[in-house]
Amino acid sequence: MTVTTDTFFGGAPEVNASAPGRVNLLGEHTDYNDGFMLPVATPQRTMVAMSRSGDDHFHFYSPNLDATVTFVRDGSAPQGFGSYIEGCIRLVQAEGIEVPPLRVYVETDLPVGSGLSSSAALEVATLRAMRALLGFELDDVKLARIAQRAEIEYARVNCGIMDQMASSLADESNMLFIDARSLEHRLVPLPPDTELIVVDSGVARKLAASKYNERRAECEEGAKKLGVQALRDVADPASVESLPSPLRERARHVVQENLRVLEAADGVGAERFGELMNASHLSLRDDYEVSIPELDALCEALRAAPGVLGARLTGAGFGGACVALCRKGQAQQAAATALAAYHKADGRQGRILVPVPTDRKDNDEPV
Ligand code: GLA
Repeated sequence: MTVTTDTFFGGAPEVNASAPGRVNLLGEHTDYNDGFMLPVATPQRTMVAMSRSGDDHFHFYSPNLDATVTFVRDGSAPQGFGSYIEGCIRLVQAEGIEVPPLRVYVETDLPVGSGLSSSAALEVATLRAMRALLGFELDDVKLARIAQRAEIEYARVNCGIMDQMASSLADESNMLFIDARSLEHRLVPLPPDTELIVVDSGVARKLAASKYNERRAECEEGAKKLGVQALRDVADPASVESLPSPLRERARHVVQENLRVLEAADGVGAERFGELMNASHLSLRDDYEVSIPELDALCEALRAAPGVLGARLTGAGFGGACVALCRKGQAQQAAATALAAYHKADGRQGRILVPVPTDRKDNDEPV
């Protein structure tokens, strides 16, 4: 039996909050190198309803998973969706804020496992709900930092700050320029007369975690050998060529990707933005080696479709989705053409994730 908020709370919850996922347009694998990125928020969101529990236990429920997590005030949640929520609670407590046991109902229409950061949306929505319920001060950047720590320390995913910053501060119609070192940020309009489309490759992200950690370690080693704090600090892009392989290629990607973001954030035309996206994909494929043949094929199919200005994988790679920049009004048709070509060549079934397809009901995948 599906549990509704009414049955879960025995009436209306005390507060409701929500947060979006993100699609990164440029600046991949740059955040943990103190670099730059340009994500937008997804139209899909994660909703969190919250009340004080009135007993000595935390109670979490997800209708998407039809799963309940219950644990005593000083206990802990088992690994799973409850760890993200518990992480937020414990880290707010660590800020010196008293948090009573809570009832938390979390529902999402974000597709999971496609690289749209449903986990950041869950963390940010949880922290927003706690802020509203308990009335403490927490600015949106600090909130993103706490959300990131919840993911690292409680969900045990060694992520950078991009997803949580995007979920906390981005909107759907502008890109959010982020400096991962200073956390300075500003909204930047999309190139004029363009629209975005995000297409899932139908390949789940395998190896993502282990390869992600491997890439992070390679970047740190590269920075050390170059005598800089982080690859963001490389002043002369040619200096990376002195590194041994594969550190050379990894560093080359990061340095060039940062330059692409800085150029795009300064405001470039639609065609140039598309070229930067294509260059980003090639760099992720050849130098950073986080693409897979299916993502390459899908990007190529998108680029070949009329109206597409550029396409690249989005997120960590090793599966998940591609994003394309299209001329206004042409994105849907371009995606349909590309998906048909992709299916024909690869036998794979891709699907549109953003904008939200009109023929799809929410929640066809769980949290
Ligand atoms: C994942 C991480 C982010 C970022 C991207 C790659 O989404 O959570 O912090 O590193 O990969 O750009």
